[in-house]
Amino acid sequence: MEAIFKRVSVRKYLDKEIEDEKIEKILRAAMASPTAMNQQEWEFYVIKDKSKLEELSTVTPYSGFVKNAPCAIVVCSKRETTREEFRDIDCALCTENMLLEMAHLDLGGCMIGISPDKEKIEKLNNMINIKEGLDAFTLIPFGYPETYKEQEDRFDLEKVHYI
Ligand SMILES: Cc1cc2nc3c(=O)[nH]c(=O)nc-3n(C[C@H](O)[C@H](O)[C@H](O)COP(=O)(O)O)c2cc1C
Repeated sequence: MEAIFKRVSVRKYLDKEIEDEKIEKILRAAMASPTAMNQQEWEFYVIKDKSKLEELSTVTPYSGFVKNAPCAIVVCSKRETTREEFRDIDCALCTENMLLEMAHLDLGGCMIGISPDKEKIEKLNNMINIKEGLDAFTLIPFGYPETYKEQEDRFDLEKVHYI
């Protein structure tokens, strides 16, 4: 629970490699997320290659900082699925699980919006040479934060309606 109130988007990272055990924990957190009808139709690309990270940093106008991350994960989902309308929802839930696990491990990441923009999906698909039948959903660069930021308190009673 502590991780929920610790997570912030992190865009500046130390030049320090991420331990493989930590990457596995983040992927385990992803796969622990709920999915529509328990379809679990996500797959993950882990990118550590510096030149590929540099290429990925050009995928949108808002992803420049990816080139300075020691690692990034692309969350993908199956194109042909019985519950097409839930594809992005499933991927978004597993993305949040990953961001929370990163916070728990004293790492920090940032979700970069890709889906549902078809042009960005296609661009990212090509950059990672994605497996046939999959589409990229989001790109999450992460690493050890350069500085630790406090999360802002966004609690707003005016947004809550009791009946
Ligand atoms: C769907 C989605 C798309 C986002 N896309 C980007 C992006 O392209 N680049 C970026 O730097 N941050 C992106 N973010 C991160 C948001 O800017 C960030 O979550 C927001 O400013 C709140 O800050 P916090 O995450 O630190 O609480 C995205 C977040 C979401 C949920």
